[in-house]
Parts: sequence; C-alpha cells; structure tokens
Amino acid sequence: MVRPKQSIQSHRKDEHVFLAEKFHQDDRQNDFDGLRFIHQSLPELAIADVDISTQFAGTTWQSPFYINGITGGSQQTKKLNAQLAQVAQIAGLPMATGSQSVAIKDPTLVDTFSVIREFNPAGFILANIGAGNDLSVAQKAVAMTQANALEIHVNTAQEVVMPEGDREFYWLDQIGEIVANLDVPVIVKEVGFGMSAETIAKLQSVGVTNIDVSGKGGTNFVTIENERRRDKAYDYLSDWGQSTVESLFESQAFQNELTILASGGIRNPLDIVKALRLGASAVGISGQILHMLIKTGPTETAEQLLAWQAQIQSIMAMLGARNLTALQSAPMILSPNLRHYLNERHLSL
Ligand SMILES: Cc1cc2nc3c(=O)[nH]c(=O)nc-3n(C[C@H](O)[C@H](O)[C@H](O)COP(=O)(O)O)c2cc1C
Repeated sequence: MVRPKQSIQSHRKDEHVFLAEKFHQDDRQNDFDGLRFIHQSLPELAIADVDISTQFAGTTWQSPFYINGITGGSQQTKKLNAQLAQVAQIAGLPMATGSQSVAIKDPTLVDTFSVIREFNPAGFILANIGAGNDLSVAQKAVAMTQANALEIHVNTAQEVVMPEGDREFYWLDQIGEIVANLDVPVIVKEVGFGMSAETIAKLQSVGVTNIDVSGKGGTNFVTIENERRRDKAYDYLSDWGQSTVESLFESQAFQNELTILASGGIRNPLDIVKALRLGASAVGISGQILHMLIKTGPTETAEQLLAWQAQIQSIMAMLGARNLTALQSAPMILSPNLRHYLNERHLSL
C-alpha cells in the first residue's frame, strides 16, 4: 500500500520527538543543582503519614507531578500518545497532549490525539494549543480529547528559530478571551524558556489564574529548531531564557493569588521536591518521561513513575514535611549564582 505523503506539520512532530531524544542527557546539570535542602535527623514523621497530593482548579491530584505536553499529529506520535496514556493511567498521573492545532487544520489527524482518551477514559487530560488561536480552536481541542483542562503554550523563542515559525506575537487579548469563555480551566505555559514577573503580571491582568513557568534546564527548543534549519543560524541562542528555578523565583510575589506550576529540566524526584519547595503546586515532566518511554516502554516507565511517587514521599519525610504546604518552609540554601539572580532582580523568597 502506498502511504499518503506526510504533511510538513506531521513531519515536524516526528522530528521534535527524534531531536528531543537525540539531545536528551540524563545527567545534564541545571539550576536545581544550586538548591540544597538542609538535612534534618529528627523529622518526627513516618513516611506513610506524608501526603503528596495536590489541588489543581478544585480537583485533587494524587500525584504532585504530571506528564506535560509532548506530542501527537502523526502516525508515529499517535503510538507514543497511546503509550503515554497507558503510563498516565497505570501511574495515576494527569497528562497533557502536544499541540492539537495540527489536527484542527487536518481532521485526519484527530485520532493521534483522541487516542489518549481511549487509553485513559477516566484520567485527568489537558488539551494543548498554541497562543494565537481563538476560542473556537480552544473549544475544539478540548472536545477532541474530552479534556479536563486546556494548556495554551507561549513559545516565542521556538517560533523565532523555527524556519516556518510564526512571526507575529499579539497573543494576550485572545488568551484573555479563552480564559473568560472556556468551560474548563486554562493553564498558560512556556515551552522551556521560563517566565518573568513581567510576563506573569501581564497574564494575570487578562484573567489567567494558572501558569506553568516551564523553564530552561531540560528540553531546549532553540537547539531542536536550530537543528532543523539548513543554516543552523541560531546556535548562539541556546542559553536563552530563565531556568525553572529562576522562573519560580520570579513567581514568588504571585503565589498567593495564582496557581503556579513548574516544568523544565526535571530529572528525578528530588528536582520535583525542590520545585514544590519553591512554591509550585504541581510539576510537569516531558523530556525525561519521553526518554524513559523510548528506552524502556510503557510498563517499566509507569512502574518507575510509581516508584518516583514513593520516593517523593520519602524525601518529604526526611525533611519533616507532612504535606506540600509544610514542605514550603523546609530549610534550604542557594548557590551564589541563584542568590545573585535574586539580588539582580530585586526578588526575595
Ligand atoms: C518532543 C517534545 C514536544 C513538545 N511539544 C510541545 C507542544 O506541542 N506543546 C507544548 O505546550 N509543549 C511542548 N513541549 C514542551 C514541554 O511541554 C515542556 O514545556 C518542555 O519540554 C520543558 O520540559 P522538559 O525539560 O521536562 O522537557 C514539547 C516537549 C518535547 C520534549
């Protein structure tokens, strides 16, 4: 049988997965290394008494971490989405899809996303579209996956380096309109370049209440998109953006009013506990879970992520933190670089 030729968009989805895995480094250093907890020898707590659940938009999530937006939009990524949905279901994790705009333009690709709901009928699913889409696209994306919430990604750095990327970034009004009219909660997220206090304030001004700061330190879409360019012109931008730790610093002043989520560069359960300590309500993971899935398959990945949940509980017990609220006052110290960032930005913890 002759297969119909893949569209540029579908091909791009396959390339993103291929390149994310190609550049993935298990032991990559990042700013989470600049934060240390102070060990407490007498926590006066049992591991079984630690509650790692969290709240998102009125729903309880049993796990404080989730599978963040990765993929869909081609036959190869349909398989990955089916497997990720299985992982989410077995490990009890919320899961976001990759950007669905491609399937709204080309309905033959709908099943590459709706497969997630098929494999995880009762799970918490987050739909995903890019900023610049209007309310009707948002509604279609949510309907396509029968989603419980919607992620809208803001990704100027990726678009700039992407050869076929958008060149106009008038996004804020449409984001506000979607938040005001969609009947599921909306999260505005970055894609690995982090957020500033200025960005968070702008989002808050149009009614956004859930923000994933998705910072630098893991998957790098400047590197990925640059690799897709013939001229490789943007190599020098590969260190662009704020790390996830820096972005969580930037979010401190907003944490009482907004739900701040964190992603970007999560490598292990300790990174998750550190992001929660800095005020994230929950933590998203993409590159590391994609890597586990490709290397070990869905069953082992789910087992590993269940083990991560137990390990988070153990780390919190060592810190004497009975729940996520208590964790937020666990003593910690910061590296000189992170202190310098706080000083330069006139931020305090
Ligand atoms: C292969 C791949 C594809 C991605 N596609 C999307 C996407 O379609 N929409 C989105 O919001 N984020 C997308 N992301 C970004 C992630 O959701 C996340 O913000 C970023 O990768 C940083 O997290 P990480 O370091 O854990 O990978 C993608 C990430 C990967 C690895």
